[in-house]
Amino acid sequence: MKHSFLLAFLLVIASLHRAVAQEPDIDDPSSVKAHYKIQKTVTCSNGAVVSAHPLASRAGLSVMKKGGNAVDAAIATQLALAVVYPGAGNIGGGGFMVARLANGKNLAIDYREKAPAAAGRDMYLDANGNPQMNLSQNGHLASGVPGTIAGLFASLKYAKLPFSVLIEPAIELAEKGFEITANEANGLNAYKNAFIKYNSVQPAFVKETPWKAGDTLVQKDLAATLKRIRDLGQKGFYEGETAKLIVEEMQRGKGLISYEDLKNYQAKERTALVFPYKGYSIVSMPMPSSGGVIINQALRMIEDKNIGKMGFASVGAVQLMVEAERRAYADRAEFMGDADFVKVPVKKLTSDAYIKERFSDYDPTKAGSSETTKAGKINPESEETTHLSVIDKFGNAVSVTTTLNGGYGSKTVVGGAGFLLNNEMDDFSVKPGVPNMYGALGTEANAIAPGKRMLSSMTPTIVLKAGKPFLVVGTPGGTTIPTSVFQSIVNVIDFKLSTADAVYKPKFHHQWQPDEIYVEKGFPEKTIDGLKAMGYKVNVRGSIGRTEAIRVLPGGKFEAVADNRGDDAAEGY
Ligand code: GLY
Repeated sequence: MKHSFLLAFLLVIASLHRAVAQEPDIDDPSSVKAHYKIQKTVTCSNGAVVSAHPLASRAGLSVMKKGGNAVDAAIATQLALAVVYPGAGNIGGGGFMVARLANGKNLAIDYREKAPAAAGRDMYLDANGNPQMNLSQNGHLASGVPGTIAGLFASLKYAKLPFSVLIEPAIELAEKGFEITANEANGLNAYKNAFIKYNSVQPAFVKETPWKAGDTLVQKDLAATLKRIRDLGQKGFYEGETAKLIVEEMQRGKGLISYEDLKNYQAKERTALVFPYKGYSIVSMPMPSSGGVIINQALRMIEDKNIGKMGFASVGAVQLMVEAERRAYADRAEFMGDADFVKVPVKKLTSDAYIKERFSDYDPTKAGSSETTKAGKINPESEETTHLSVIDKFGNAVSVTTTLNGGYGSKTVVGGAGFLLNNEMDDFSVKPGVPNMYGALGTEANAIAPGKRMLSSMTPTIVLKAGKPFLVVGTPGGTTIPTSVFQSIVNVIDFKLSTADAVYKPKFHHQWQPDEIYVEKGFPEKTIDGLKAMGYKVNVRGSIGRTEAIRVLPGGKFEAVADNRGDDAAEGY
């Protein structure tokens, strides 16, 4: 009797504990320290956030519940990602925000990093003209002037809540700490030696014994930096104490970012790239992102081919999309760069006549060749970027992709300020014809120049149906970003896949050079064999991207899907 009472008591305690573990109070950041779950999909009516980390999605949701809109949520989510997802979430990097506001206005906010004033075209070449890629990829010299904080303040005018409310979850998470996931533990352990090598002030990411899932990561210096930003606004990052810490860090490692570079940094509102596809309207990012133009070209090259009939992942469909990608990426390498510095012929590259002519040599019976398909007549970079998609009940949709470039960026943490700097300088073309860390090529259009923004592939995108948000989508993945966004849109519109299938099904990628199709593990063998029989070289690789999508269902509910390739999580209410 006594035993069965004890057993019942223990069962009740255990079930209470489970309930706490599964249903943390999302409005109380301290509750997330101990327990959180990763929810992959949610269907809801008031607002949804999908991002690379459950605590960041939850930070976004919590500010929406306080009356904020999708822009508020996007700002809070980005700040939280800078704490809980240091591999790519950042305040030391840059990004792009594309939004469709309830009043019908499209936004494209550019907060891409810039080359410091002291940077120069040949800064990564040795005396013999040989590229020293280690310098563009690791350590102090690899960093461009960060843009993220300027971008968040540029977005703030479309938000409803004060910045101090939006940054609070990030400050709590940095100050009190949070339990890391197994993926994060693996990342921090894998980069331990790099953190030691590229830092003279030991960062919070380094500890004696290996990290494991459930360990608490506390970032006091980062919390102090976030508080300066809360109290002083943009100046709390680009001037004063934080600027001093950045410049001192640069001096310790022969980096170039100066006080003037920081003070002069400005985010820019660009005109979103908008184009039609099969009755939908696609809103995406213009230069310095190559992504908007690539998906414009690729979608429109396939538009009249009835790909839906060919079948999802069929040889014919994949071949058609690969040939569109080949041509678009050849144009990327030749023509694209920061349009504030070089003339990028966007109008021509996206004109009906050009698209038609560019695809006129497409042959559905055999593999194309990057030897013969050059750029039309008139770079893969890091995969460690991160994307978030947000929607609210007011009619606003926001798509944001931000990046440090490589995993943990330059690996250099600003001593005393606690945040990682980017290694975005590698997204420039260090020397024409020399591939960057992920194989992307570039020419003069993307050569380094002081104050210039490096070409990006980030493609935050919103698909409109009858003028209203229908699909909010984007992904990290370096040069695979535009091809993943391209596939996600075609998966939904043409193949009529469910949102989950559109995100989860294995993806493929072709970027002109190297002339190979990369397919994700699990891609149908039959299709691979069919493509090989046509003459394509096919390589199986690890996962491609981490797509975060929100679809508006008939009736108006939001269906949010977080990628299952990482800790990505969907939150909604
Ligand atoms: N560093 C990734 C991108 O901007 O494309």
